[in-house]
Amino acid sequence: MRLCASLLCGLALLGPASALDWTGLRPAGDLASLARRDQGVDLTCADGTVVQLTVLAPDLVRVRARFAGQPAAPDHSWAIARTAWPAAPWQIHEAAAAVTLTTAELEVVVRRHPLLVEFRDAATHRVINADQRPMARDPQTGRVAVAKRLGFDEHFYGLGEKAAHLDRRRAEFTMWNSDTPGYTEGTDPIYQSIPFYVGLEGGNAYGLFHDNSHRSHFDFGRLSQDCADYAADAGVLDYYFFHGPSLKKILGRYTELTGRMPLPPLWALGHQQSRYSYYPDTMLDEVARQYRAHDLPLDVLYLDIHYMDGYRVFTWDQSRFPDPAALTARLAQQGVRVVTILDPGVKHQPEGGYPVFDEGLARDYFLRRQDGSLYIGEVWPGQAVFVDYTKEDARRWWGDKLTALTGPGVAGIWTDMNEPSDFADKTGERQKDIVFDDLGARSPYGANRNTFALNMTRATYEGLARLQPDRRPFVITRAGYAGIQRYATVWTGDNNATFDALALNLPMFASLGLSGEAFVGSDLPGFIGRGDAELLARSYQVAALVPLCRNHGAIDQYDHEPWRYGPQAEGIVRKFLKLRYRLLPFLYTTLEEAHRTGVPLFRPLLLNFQDDPATLNLDDEFMVGDALLAAPVLRAGERGREVYLPAGRWYDYWTGTAVAGGTTLRTDAPLDHLPLYARGGSVIPSTDAMSHTGEKPWNPLRFAIYPDTAGHAAGSLYEDDGQSPDYQKGVSRRTALSFATGKLSLAAPAGNFAPAARRFEFSLHASPNVTSVTLDGRALPETTATALTPGWFRASPDVVVIRHADDGRAHTFDLR
Ligand code: GLC
Repeated sequence: MRLCASLLCGLALLGPASALDWTGLRPAGDLASLARRDQGVDLTCADGTVVQLTVLAPDLVRVRARFAGQPAAPDHSWAIARTAWPAAPWQIHEAAAAVTLTTAELEVVVRRHPLLVEFRDAATHRVINADQRPMARDPQTGRVAVAKRLGFDEHFYGLGEKAAHLDRRRAEFTMWNSDTPGYTEGTDPIYQSIPFYVGLEGGNAYGLFHDNSHRSHFDFGRLSQDCADYAADAGVLDYYFFHGPSLKKILGRYTELTGRMPLPPLWALGHQQSRYSYYPDTMLDEVARQYRAHDLPLDVLYLDIHYMDGYRVFTWDQSRFPDPAALTARLAQQGVRVVTILDPGVKHQPEGGYPVFDEGLARDYFLRRQDGSLYIGEVWPGQAVFVDYTKEDARRWWGDKLTALTGPGVAGIWTDMNEPSDFADKTGERQKDIVFDDLGARSPYGANRNTFALNMTRATYEGLARLQPDRRPFVITRAGYAGIQRYATVWTGDNNATFDALALNLPMFASLGLSGEAFVGSDLPGFIGRGDAELLARSYQVAALVPLCRNHGAIDQYDHEPWRYGPQAEGIVRKFLKLRYRLLPFLYTTLEEAHRTGVPLFRPLLLNFQDDPATLNLDDEFMVGDALLAAPVLRAGERGREVYLPAGRWYDYWTGTAVAGGTTLRTDAPLDHLPLYARGGSVIPSTDAMSHTGEKPWNPLRFAIYPDTAGHAAGSLYEDDGQSPDYQKGVSRRTALSFATGKLSLAAPAGNFAPAARRFEFSLHASPNVTSVTLDGRALPETTATALTPGWFRASPDVVVIRHADDGRAHTFDLR
């Protein structure tokens, strides 16, 4: 049975013809005529193909083709969040050989014979990206394709969750959401499909988003040395071109187009513990009790599939969980929230007795085949049916059903198996005749498999938002498509508890972040297998700085809670979880940046240093925001490693010692040590460690100030209530500070969120010669580390600390 499933899977992964196989593809004809529209032009080709160029912004142009003989398709995509764009000026210039559409940033040159599209920088006329051959479609199969010239030194990033290195050059990938437990480097596809990538050459980046949800293939010069190919099995050739040159700017636009991550509740940044499965209810009480007894921080416990009655969604097993509301209330008293799993498969129970099935059937919300029969798959409850989440009323119904969980106090929802996985046919090969409503378009399975999870998480997110309007929804998902960041955090599925899988986390998180998905994480220390104490310790050194920090393990695995691995590993986990909770003000500030700008917390160095060639495929280090660089040990037995630090001044986070960048250094890394560096020029806010995120307010607030080589530093702290959607109405507070040549300027806080009284402590690194400090021109008294009085003191030969009650006003401190 298993053998047969993996054989099927292998065949599916081979897919139809490879991306480079142009057999049957008919190129668009030569350009014949042009018609202007409001936001762009329609280019009609000799064979009847129409290519639409649409200017959405000076740096964003959409290319959409309807090939000769191709039926018209509605212009709708589940991925797109923004369809109305303010008019951006553009001109069109027609010449004998080509027409050129120009915006403030881009020139789109369309050559007439043959039809080739080329993107240039409007300022320098430099070619950024160009077709190698005309776009094409196979009239028999409906396959569509584009071939781009491959730059001699062009590098590629993005494509979301792929079990591969950071740089996609010389690799090929398939987009087809797949349940792939135990995946390893090279397994492709896996759970998610995000057909967005960034090309980077000579420090200049562009972005390309192929908004086609059918199975598609990307080849970045693997099968051909000079060509980057794309092909989708069917659907419309519809892509968005983003002008850089900066990666951050492209991410900003891409997440404007496909939506940004709303702010999750603060507790989502807390440590989370799961297993497949905790039951009965008293087991959860005990796990929470043990966590507190072991002085290990914990914010969330998860209920996996055994909380349900026979795996029926929206039910509780009465014998295991006789009073779920009492359980969530008891855990809440300890600062622990409960998140429950929710699978898309609804138990097929035609004999009655299961209202969810009865209602869904009566309202015709379940997916059907072309012949009208129900699609019955096989998942945890045995035979199961699946909701057509493309129907708005079905989404609403699903969202309302969540009261079965939120009523008893469940705080968040974990949407799993939403590729959708069907044990009887994991690849979906036999499901081609399933029809989705798709806003009345009645589109095929092929167009909807990759967007299934997007719509399921949407239904879930919107349900939570409706049922609990005063709370930020928290949804975690396994599968997804472009735009998934609007609804859910992503975990990387059933990873292995191995060092190889730990190392793979880094490029996976980085690539998800480079594809718009800023809230990511993976099972600690791995879902399949247990891993040893060393792996647990090293996993937490990474996870402490990853947005989603969740421990989880499979049903047949020995328990994964940190204390089960012996006192040494437990101590290391405690150290790094406490580091995480101390850094909450910094992590939350960086999370807000991701929400506001689309630039993720977890970053490959490349994102902060795109001009530095040493970062192009550097994926065994990462940064958190702009300020922290981590170089974790990712191999068993290693007690040291090489660390690349880009140009500039860095500070060893643990000792405060300044280190010159632009070099690779060798550093010791015993089992309890994570090589961690603060970037010169940054300010890192932190507070005291705590046992859960709601235990106490952030007091004191410490600002570690790390001057760069010019003696400058700047940064800020973002705060809000951490739980309600009021931040969307501006109920927040930003405290900004800057340091230059011995002067620390604290700006008056911006925004109207009012925190309780607290004190600030500014730690100024690289200040060995300071002998006096003034506050707004008046001498500040000296104090000590232990006295809680305002003043200044020397914490180490290099670090001066200023203690100051936050009075909500601007101040200047002079250090002399
Ligand atoms: C899937 C999930 C895993 C979960 C299990 C049981 O394998 O990926 O996290 O524990 O199903 O629900």
